[in-house]
Amino acid sequence: MLRPDQVHPGIGDRRVAMEDVNATPKGKKLAHPAAHAPRIFADTATIDEIMPLKEGGIINGVTTNPTLLKRAGANSWASADKIQKEIVKYMAPYPVSLELTELDPEKMFKQAKKLAAFGSNVVVKVPTGGFGMMERDPFTGLKMIRRLWQENIRTNATLIFNSTQAFWAANAGASYVSPFLGRVADYLYKHDQVERGPGNSLHYMEDHKVPSGGPNVVANTAYVANDGTRKDAGVRLINEIVSVFNNYRIHTEVLAASFRNAAQVMECLLAGADILTVPAPILMGVADHPLSDEGMKAFVEDSKTFDH
Ligand code: G3P
Repeated sequence: MLRPDQVHPGIGDRRVAMEDVNATPKGKKLAHPAAHAPRIFADTATIDEIMPLKEGGIINGVTTNPTLLKRAGANSWASADKIQKEIVKYMAPYPVSLELTELDPEKMFKQAKKLAAFGSNVVVKVPTGGFGMMERDPFTGLKMIRRLWQENIRTNATLIFNSTQAFWAANAGASYVSPFLGRVADYLYKHDQVERGPGNSLHYMEDHKVPSGGPNVVANTAYVANDGTRKDAGVRLINEIVSVFNNYRIHTEVLAASFRNAAQVMECLLAGADILTVPAPILMGVADHPLSDEGMKAFVEDSKTFDH
């Protein structure tokens, strides 16, 4: 968990300088109390998961990727495009991130134009790194972000794993950066060979993924590394990027992604993330708590004694 003294003091000012998330309509007397709140997106390409979350006013955006599209049933480019178009239309005017899959710059640009034509709320998701390892120009993603910015197309720089990548992407002109906090935690956990002894409340709880429709599980994502130090796995990255952006008044939004559990949602709010894109089962679980259930049952039982 982040300590309060790790949270950058200027985060509130940063949010005030950005677009209101919960604008109060003109003429309405009761101003919205959370005008500058972070936004919550659904990280899914499954329309049946998106609908109840949007109707309930829980989400105001969606992020997708090829893996999520496959999970939603896409098995051809035609079916992937059909799903993407449906989400874009349904979510308008809220932003929907659609990811580039091409690797060649000209093909990427063509694909970006195609995706952007699906609706004015489309944000083109551009992989920031990974090109060098495929023996391509390592700056392919950053150059594409710049080119799309010049074309007035909003981009979401994805697959961010360190704060310099995020800074580079913002400099290139990205509207959003997506640090994958869960994958950072997974990686650190694996490579540190963390001991998971009983009674260690800080151990990384890999098993605590929220099952679809299952009960809420609050897991601590921090862990004790082999050298005995406590590590913040993943959320630390969000905190760093927010601090860098805050220092230089960068208005690229920090879109925390790759959530594993409900505890990370709270940690990212403490870290100052501008947007949290969360899988539907975790979003559903966040609203619940075993003590809420217990309290609710007692209130309902007691209220029954008023029936005469
Ligand atoms: O938005 C990015 C996200 O979908 C990646 O999540 O769970 O595959 O690490 P995950």
